[in-house]
Parts: sequence; structure tokens; C-alpha cells
Amino acid sequence: MQCTYERIVDYEFSESGVHPLHLNELLEGEEETKEFLKAPLGYPHADGTPELRARIAATYRSARPEEVFVTNGSSEANFIAAWRLFEKGDEAVIMVPNYMQTWGLAKTWEVDVKELPLKPDLGWQFDPESLKKLVTKKTKAIQVCNPNNPTGAIMAEEQRKALVDAAKDSGAWLLSDEVYLGAEREAPRTESLWGNYEKTLITNGLSKAYGLPGLRTGWLVGSPDALKEVKPHHDYLTLTPAMLSDRLARLALEPERREKILARTKAILQKNYSIMKGWLDAHGSMFDHVPPAAGAIVYVKYSLKMNSTALAERLRKEKSVLVVPGDHFGMDGYLRIGTGPPKDYLHGGLDRIDELLREIKAEGSE
Ligand SMILES: Cc1ncc(COP(=O)(O)O)c(C=O)c1O
Repeated sequence: MQCTYERIVDYEFSESGVHPLHLNELLEGEEETKEFLKAPLGYPHADGTPELRARIAATYRSARPEEVFVTNGSSEANFIAAWRLFEKGDEAVIMVPNYMQTWGLAKTWEVDVKELPLKPDLGWQFDPESLKKLVTKKTKAIQVCNPNNPTGAIMAEEQRKALVDAAKDSGAWLLSDEVYLGAEREAPRTESLWGNYEKTLITNGLSKAYGLPGLRTGWLVGSPDALKEVKPHHDYLTLTPAMLSDRLARLALEPERREKILARTKAILQKNYSIMKGWLDAHGSMFDHVPPAAGAIVYVKYSLKMNSTALAERLRKEKSVLVVPGDHFGMDGYLRIGTGPPKDYLHGGLDRIDELLREIKAEGSE
């Protein structure tokens, strides 16, 4: 839905990252720009350059460059990890709601998916007892998204411990999509799950916390043995990352610049969430939400008696505003609204949503 409509609506709120940096904001000064323009356009290192892998490794408490390899977006990292691991008839425990990529792949490949629900009354944490019941010796992998899309929740300590214990006890792989790590609104930086358990694969990239989705830079972190198993899938799929993206990603992850970029993201998240919260509060009991700890999204429960896809479709067709219906996460009654665009754009889109809400009220179809 996002790919189909994002370019043709007036207000695109289906994106979950902050509005992107421009190339001239990433390249600092004339010298750096000149250097960049001299880049040879040959094939890059298939695994990402050693320099980039070292920069990525340095963002983890205890990762070595040989435990990292670079992909085209974290979506490729998710895909090849799942492709390597999942076989028909396997069992996988997958957190829901979630970025539904791994869930969808598992279903496609006829994996028996056991859903681990995040609970709104637990501030979008899962119940550790439910996890214990779902994970067995038959579980091939447990997949989580932390910080979570669409709820914006960061996994609490109790849940982290329960997760690692369950993976260790069962011998299952732990797949952790951490693309929102670094996009915390107020909370301290999220701790990666890397470094707790050998059979862990972390996926991440520059699309969300860094505001650089156009680079299509993602990565996998795993033990050298695990990466050796996953890499051939990258060879069969895209072969290498893009040369220019590798260069620019190295710049973005240069420690001082990285902190500046993450500070920009945080400032956008804070400013825009306060706009969104004001707007939601002004609607009283129409909307309910748990404040997102991370990500440029709010996951909002609404009180209209209207299906979420029907509501999102009316917004798109009648008001040219694109939001994600809860149906896409398997949860009707919710909308996920992106809060990453510039302030005026955000206000403009919220005004359009208001127009539709007034019209629905006038129709008496609330
Ligand atoms: C949790 C999650 N993982 C992965 C992706 C894909 O991101 P990328 O642009 O790095 O491929 C998204 C995009 O929205 C996401 O929300």
C-alpha cells in the first residue's frame, strides 16, 4: 500500500522515519565533497568495505568487524536471515504487531507462526509467561522488533531477560530487527540484543534513526559462522551493497557525525510528537495511544465504529492522506500515523484528517 500510494498523495504519513537528510548535509565542506566525487564506480566489497564494517561494529558494545556484513537496506538483512533459517514445517515465534516482513516470509514459506502479542495494557510489552508457553524445543527462531514498529515501544529489562533465556533454553535463533535503535524520543539509547547469546542475528540500517533511507544501507550482525551461512543468500540476491552508499554510510557513522545525526532525529521526534500529542488530546476520547518511546510513529486506537482499512481508504481517497490501517498489523481499530515530516506538512495533513472526522460525524457514521 505504501509503495503504491506514497508518491501520489498530498500527505504521506505511512512512513515511519524522520524526513531525510540531504546529500549536502551529509558531506561536510568542499574537500569532502571533492573526495566523494572522485569515487570509482566499480563493484564495492561484497560484504561492505572493512572501514564501513568497522564503523558499524563500533556502534555495538562488543561486535567485531568480522561479525558484521552490509546489505541493501535492513529489509534485505531480514530477508536473507529468514531465507537461510526458515523451512517448510518449522516453528517460529514472532512478536506482533511488528514490521510484518519476517512474519509474511514465514507464512509464505509455510512456517508455523506462533504470535507473541504485545499488550497495550502492558505499555506494549509482551507477557513473559506467554513467551514461555510459545517457545519450545521445536522453535527454530524467535523474531522481535525492538524498538517496535508500529507501537514505538522499547523492550523492558524483564522482557529482554525472558527473551534471551527462552532462546537459550530452547536453542532457537534470536532475530532482532533494531532499525529504530537510536530513534529514541526521550528514553536512553536502546541496548542491542547483540552479545547475549551466540545464536543471535541482529538486523539494522540507516533508514530510520539516521534519516538516510535513500542510501539503502542495512546490515546484519552475527557470529562469523552464522554469517558464513547467510552470506551466500546475499550473493544470490543482490551480490553487493552500492558503492556510493558504502562511502556515504562510512561518513554517517563517523562517531561525531553519527551523534549529530541522531541528535537531529531526536529533535524532530520530540517536536513532532508534541504536535501529534496536542492534536490527539484535542480529540478527547476519540483517540487513545501509549506514547511511543521511539520512532516517528504513533499507533493510535480510535473509537469510531469503522474498520481501519475503510477509514484509511477514506482518508486516502477523499483527503489524499496516507496512513497505515491497523488491519495491516492484524489489529483492527488502530491507525499508524507517521510523525516524521516537517512541521507544516504535519499540521497540513492533520487538518485534512480533521476534515474527514467532521464529515463522518455529520454523516452520523461514527
Ligand atoms: C522494523 C523495520 N525493519 C525494516 C524496515 C525496512 O527498512 P530498510 O529501509 O532499512 O530496508 C522497516 C521499514 O519501515 C522497518 O520498519
